[in-house]
Amino acid sequence: MRTIIEPFRVKVVEPIRMTTREQREQIIRDAEFNLFRIHADDVLIDLLTDSGTGAMSSLQWAGVMRGDESYAGARSWFALEAAVRKLSGFPHILPTHQGRASERILFELIGGPNRVVPNNSHFDTTRANVEHSGAAAIDLLIPEGRDPRSRHPFKGNMDVAALERLITDVGGERIPAVFVTITNNSGGGQPVSLENLRAVRRVCDKHGLPMFLDACRFAENAYFIQQREPGQRERSVREIAREIFDMADGATISAKKDGLVNIGGLLLLRSDALAQRADELLILTEGFLTYGGLAGRDLEAMAQGFEEVVDEDYLRYRVRSVEYVGERLLAAGVQIVEPPGGHAVYIDAAAFCPHIPPEQYPGQALVVGLYRQAGIRACEIGSVMFGGAGKRPPMELVRLAIPRRVYTQSHMDYVVEAVTELFAMRGELRGLEIVSEPAALRHFTARFREV
Ligand code: F0G
Repeated sequence: MRTIIEPFRVKVVEPIRMTTREQREQIIRDAEFNLFRIHADDVLIDLLTDSGTGAMSSLQWAGVMRGDESYAGARSWFALEAAVRKLSGFPHILPTHQGRASERILFELIGGPNRVVPNNSHFDTTRANVEHSGAAAIDLLIPEGRDPRSRHPFKGNMDVAALERLITDVGGERIPAVFVTITNNSGGGQPVSLENLRAVRRVCDKHGLPMFLDACRFAENAYFIQQREPGQRERSVREIAREIFDMADGATISAKKDGLVNIGGLLLLRSDALAQRADELLILTEGFLTYGGLAGRDLEAMAQGFEEVVDEDYLRYRVRSVEYVGERLLAAGVQIVEPPGGHAVYIDAAAFCPHIPPEQYPGQALVVGLYRQAGIRACEIGSVMFGGAGKRPPMELVRLAIPRRVYTQSHMDYVVEAVTELFAMRGELRGLEIVSEPAALRHFTARFREV
C-alpha cells in the first residue's frame, strides 16, 4: 500500500522557532512548570490541543472575505445554518462562540441541584459546567475504555448496563439528559459505535429521557464507524454522521475541532420549548440568534469547515497520521492508549514513569520533560486535570493532540524521536507538587515545583 499523503498543498507558511535547552530550562521554571503559562513563540511543535489550532483551507479564507457582518440576518449565518442543517437535520441551530458556551447555556436550562448527568466521559469543561449548575456529572465508560492496552475498537462506548443501574438508583426524574461524547476525548479520543449509540437511545426511550451528544469530533467518530463497525463500510461518513445526529435530542459542539475553524460553536436542539429558552439565554450572553458571539466571517468559515470535514480523503489522512505516531511510539516501547485515537495519541504516563507516584503527577513530569527535551508542548490528562479534593482519575495520560492540517509527517517523525529519546532517559524525570491552584479547572493556572 502506498503512503497516505496529506491531501492538500501548502499556500501560506508560518515559521516556527527552535530554542536552546538552556532557554527552555529558564522558560519552564519561569512558568512554574505549567505549559499553559508559557509564550507560544517558545514552542517548536505545539500539541497542547487540536482545538482551534487547525489550518483553514483556501475556500475558508475566501469565506472570511465574503463574511457578512450584518447584526441580524447576515448571509453568512444562512450559509452556516444550511450547512449544519444538511449535516445534522436539527430544527434548532444556535451559534455560540465555542463549545463551553453551548454547555453553559444548556446546563443553565437543564442542570441544577439534585440533578445527575451521565456521560461516557465528561470533558473537563463539560464536567465543570454540569457541576457549576449544581448537578452531578457521572462517567459511565465501558471497562475496556479504562485499560490502555485493550484493543477494543470502540473504547469510547458507554456502559449501558451501568446506565440502567444509575437510572434505577437515582430515578429518571433526576436525569435531565444522557450525554454521549463522540469521540471520547478524556478517554483517549476513542470512538463510540453506532450499536452503542442505538443501545443508549433505547434505554433513553424506555425511561423517557433525552439523549444528547457532545459532538465536537463527530466526523472522526463517524469515520471510525465506517472503518471498524460491521456493515458500515459501504456507507458514506456523511450518512453515518446523519444517522448519529438523527438519534439525538440535542448536541453541544465546539466547531474548533471538526468544524475546522479557529473559533466557533453550536448548540443543536430538537425541542421547540427548550430552544425558545436557549434563544433567550443566547441573546443575553452570547449575541443575537444569527451570530451568537461570532463575526460573520467566522460563520462563513464554519459553514465551509463543516463541508470539508466529512471529505473522506481528509479523514483517511487525518486518522492515519495520528495512527502513524501511535504505531511508531508503540514500536519504540512507549505504552500509549491503544489503539491511537482520532485526534491525539495518549501516552500512558503511569507506565512511562513508574517511579513517580500519582500524587507527584507523572503526566505533568512527562509534559515538562518533553518540553525541556525538544520544545514540544503536550497536555496532561490525569491527576492534575481531574484530581484534587481526594479524586483520582482512572488513568494518568499525556495527550499529544494533533492540530488539523498543520504539521507534516517530518514534524511527526521529530515528535516520535523526541519521545523515544525521553523514554530512554525516563529515570531522570522528576515528580512535581502543586504550589498554588484555583478552585476549578486547575490545570490551566496551577503552579508547580519539582520534588
Ligand atoms: N467537549 C469536548 C469533548 C472537548 O474536547 C472540548 C474542548 C469541549 C467540549 C469544549 O469546547 O473548548 O470550544 O469550549 N476541548 C479542547 C481540548 C479544549 O483541548 O480537548 P471549547
